[in-house]
Amino acid sequence: MGGFLQRVKIVEVGLRDGLQNESQILSTSVKREVAEKLVGAGLTELEVTSFVHPRWIPQLADAQELAESLPVIDGVRYRALVPNAKGLNRALQTPVHEYAVFLSASETHNRKNINKGIEETFPVLEEVVGRSLEDGKRVRGYVSTVFGCPYEGEVPLKQVVAICERLFEMGVYEVSLGDTIGVATPDQVKEKLKTLATCFPAERLAGHFHDTRGTALVNAYVSLEQGILTLDSAFGGLGGCPYAPGASGNMATEDLVYMLEGMGISTGVDLPALCQVSRLVQRELGKQLPSRVLQSVLAMEGEKGGNLL
Ligand code: HMG
Ligand code: MG
Repeated sequence: MGGFLQRVKIVEVGLRDGLQNESQILSTSVKREVAEKLVGAGLTELEVTSFVHPRWIPQLADAQELAESLPVIDGVRYRALVPNAKGLNRALQTPVHEYAVFLSASETHNRKNINKGIEETFPVLEEVVGRSLEDGKRVRGYVSTVFGCPYEGEVPLKQVVAICERLFEMGVYEVSLGDTIGVATPDQVKEKLKTLATCFPAERLAGHFHDTRGTALVNAYVSLEQGILTLDSAFGGLGGCPYAPGASGNMATEDLVYMLEGMGISTGVDLPALCQVSRLVQRELGKQLPSRVLQSVLAMEGEKGGNLL
C-alpha cells in the first residue's frame, strides 16, 4: 500500500460506544479523566457521549455535564451522537464540536435501537443535520448492520447504498459503515467496500468494526486496501450496542495502533500511555478489557489481568 496511508485517521469511540454497553456507571469525573488521558496519549478525534434518551442508555445520562467539563485543547475535537431534535437541543448547549446521526440498514434493528422504521427516521435526521449545519457544526452519519443484522441476518447492499445516498443528500460529510455485531469477514468487506467505493468517494467513508468474532483488525486492513482511511476504534476494545444482541467490543485502539505502526504508518498515539488509560478503566469497571495488545503490555509490566479485578 502506498504513501497515501499516512492520512489514516483514528476516531476514538470508547467513551461513547465503549461505555454505552457497560452497566456499571462510571462517574462523570472518571470519564473526564479518561478523555483527558486519551488526548494526552495523542488521540485527537474523540466521540465522547450520546444525547440519546437516558432511559435507553443510562451510562450516558451525564452527556451534558461531561461535554461541558472536557478540557479545551487546540487540535482536539469532541464528537457526540445525536438521535433527534430533542437530543440536538441538549447538544447545542454544550461545546461539543461535531455531531453524528445514526440509523440501521435493517428495519428491525432500526426499530429496536431508535424506535422507528427506517423511512420515518429520515425526516428526524434531516432536521438534526439541517439545524446542525446552520449552527456551523459538521455532521457524520453512521449506518449500522451493514454486514449483517442480529434480527434479519444478511442485509442487501442496495439498502446500504440507498441510506448512504440519503445521508449525503442531507449534508453529512462522511458515513461510517458499521459492522454492529462483528460478523463481517475480510472477503465480504472487500466485496462490499469495492461496490460502495464506486458509488461514493472512498475518502467520505469510514470503517466501524466490532470484534465479536475476532475479525475487526483484518477487516480494518482490508478497508485500508480499499482506500478507506478513517477507522473507528475504542480503547481497550470496549463496546457494543445494547440493542443488538451478541454485539461485543469495538476494534481495540491499542491493536489498531500496533498494526498501523508496524505498517510504517505514524499514528501520533503513544501506545504505553494509551494502555495506562485502559488500565484505569479496567480498574474502574473491575474487569479485564479485551484488547490483545493491552493485555500483553500489562503482562510485560508484570501486572497480570486477574490482579486488576
Ligand atoms: P422514543 O421513546 O421513541 O422517543 O425514543 P419519543 O420521541 O417518542 O419521546 C419520548 C420521550 O422521550 C419524550 O419525553 C421525549 O421528550 C423524550 P416525555 O414527553 O414523554 O417526557 N426524548 C428524549 N429525552 C432526552 N434525549 C433525547 C430524547 N428523545 C426523546 N434525545 C430515542 C427515541 C431515539 C430517543 C430512543 O430510542 C433512544 O435514545 N435510542 C438510542 C439507542 C442507542 O443509543 N443505541 C446505541 C447507539 S447506536 C450504535 O451503537 C451503533 C453505532 O456504534 C454504529 C454500529 O456499531 O453499527 C453508532
Ligand atoms: Mg458501534
